[in-house]
Amino acid sequence: MKLKSNFENNQESLANSIMPPAVLALFLQIMSFLFCLSWSILASFDFLWSFPIYIFVFTQAAMAAFFSFLFDADWWWWPIQFLFPLLIIFFVFSELPSYYYLSAFIFFALVYWSTFRTQVPYYPSKASLLPTILDLLPSEKSINFIDVGSGLGGLLIELSRVKKNSCFFGIEIAPLPWIISVLRCKFFRDKVQFTFGNYGNINFNGYDVVFAYLSPAAMPDLWMKAKSEMRAGSILLSYEFIIPNVKPDLYFNLKVNDPILYLWRI
Ligand SMILES: C[S@@+](CC[C@H](N)C(=O)[O-])C[C@H]1O[C@@H](n2cnc3c(N)ncnc32)[C@H](O)[C@@H]1O
Repeated sequence: MKLKSNFENNQESLANSIMPPAVLALFLQIMSFLFCLSWSILASFDFLWSFPIYIFVFTQAAMAAFFSFLFDADWWWWPIQFLFPLLIIFFVFSELPSYYYLSAFIFFALVYWSTFRTQVPYYPSKASLLPTILDLLPSEKSINFIDVGSGLGGLLIELSRVKKNSCFFGIEIAPLPWIISVLRCKFFRDKVQFTFGNYGNINFNGYDVVFAYLSPAAMPDLWMKAKSEMRAGSILLSYEFIIPNVKPDLYFNLKVNDPILYLWRI
């Protein structure tokens, strides 16, 4: 475990977008579509030439990706914007039965649920996190530890197996990951309490350690909540994402190329 000294280099840049990223992405696709449509109508009148659909779609895709770049959207939106129209055309022509789409929609809705609003999708933390968190927890004293946005519950289940004298809690907003975490717990008889809900609606006051693996968009509000609700002496941990302009008390470089763990003492 290595203490990192240049945390400033790891500050996440918050995109100053004028609307939520998903809405901006949709807006840019519509703009690109309308631009291509006007262009193809003009071409058909002026040159009596109708656009082949693949040129239309490819141009729309490239424009949407370029606009995303111009509007300072996070880099992962560029390939998403490019692939989106191409995939729509691919699936339209592939003539898949409609229940495929319904099943995919239900699956993604259950996993990603309100990601549109929270801007925090599901992705698991890495195994290298576990020994570092265990080192930070007191060995004798019993503590209350909560993972806000507990996903499939893996981190808490592993921690509870080692730190048997402490209480572990998870809260998760997406139904499918939450159900899986509850079932894992019941099946393996682990002692973790998983709640279905929004961590914004619970009070952090009862916890000695609050752990978060969220996204840059969630960090300012998380810090406000932690500051107003957490007890003096308790600890806020954030994996990968720093709180903008709030220097952490400690930061741990867990393994080469793995995210950093940040720690703030309240
Ligand atoms: C990056 S995953 C982290 C999963 C888990 N903590 C881990 O370390 O593997 C973030 C999780 O937070 C959940 N989440 C996002 N916003 C939330 C909120 N306001 N309340 C509860 N859960 C939330 C997401 O559904 C997602 O499962």
